[in-house]
Amino acid sequence: MHGEASGGAVLSVLEEGILTVRLNRPEKKNALNLAMYGALAEELQRGDRDDGVRVIMLVGNPDCFTSGNDLADFLTAPPNGGDSPVFRFLNAISTARKPIVAAVSGLAVGVGVTMLLHCELVFAAAGATFQMPFVNLGLCPEAGSTLLLPRMMGHQRAAELLLLGEPFGAERAREVGIVNQICPDGELLATARARALQLAAQPAAAVRLAKALLKRDYAAPLQETIAEEGRLFMERLKSPEAAEALRAFMERRKPDFSRFS
Ligand code: COA
Repeated sequence: MHGEASGGAVLSVLEEGILTVRLNRPEKKNALNLAMYGALAEELQRGDRDDGVRVIMLVGNPDCFTSGNDLADFLTAPPNGGDSPVFRFLNAISTARKPIVAAVSGLAVGVGVTMLLHCELVFAAAGATFQMPFVNLGLCPEAGSTLLLPRMMGHQRAAELLLLGEPFGAERAREVGIVNQICPDGELLATARARALQLAAQPAAAVRLAKALLKRDYAAPLQETIAEEGRLFMERLKSPEAAEALRAFMERRKPDFSRFS
């Protein structure tokens, strides 16, 4: 079991060819801080390099997959370029050669949803809730989601999820293509693991080749989109709307955007 670099907030274990990476910061609903992004990037890169790893599996805790980027970090340690831990993570997950399986239970917010767009198989517990509140926070979507979501579900449905930023359930996530399969809450991990084992038993080089071919026509534009969204996201973090939204979260009140045009 690894996890020292992030103080135990990202744990990993390799068993039967499956590198399971667990988000584990329950007191902050698994909000991803700098150390966790760094640890996730390293685990993904290690998994991709290590011949003993055939499948990478991302899991959270029963009540929370992740509440997204740590909002306190947005105020005190915002990303400031391509070497920032968040961009290292996005680069690692969007360029991984090996298949990635995710098991989502509880809340998946912000990057907790957009990271799923880079996975091959996504399982959700029936009670899982998803939300991409980037615009609600005065920010812009990230992780290549402005390219991947409309490609997956069409412009209008992507716009609805991104511009209104409302929570939606597992059934909606499956219907729009973010989730492959919904499992009864208690069966999520066993189902995801069984499918990961099935994937691990496939010929690994053929799996890697098929994954690369599936992404071939958008691999380059995806990297450009991630970079452009990232540049605009960093700009938006300095906007008065984002400042108001982040202050409101810390003060546990609703943000008031009425004075911004
Ligand atoms: N960043 C930093 N801290 C977070 C967090 C985040 N994204 N999400 C939750 N937390 C913290 C809370 O501040 C709280 O900390 P405290 O106990 O020290 O005050 C703790 O985690 C528990 O969260 P709480 O809000 O009390 O739980 P909840 O069940 O009522 O609500 C959420 C959970 C996830 C719906 C709510 O916390 C939330 O909306 N978080 C922000 C999500 C977000 O906007 N993510 C970024 C998208 S870009």
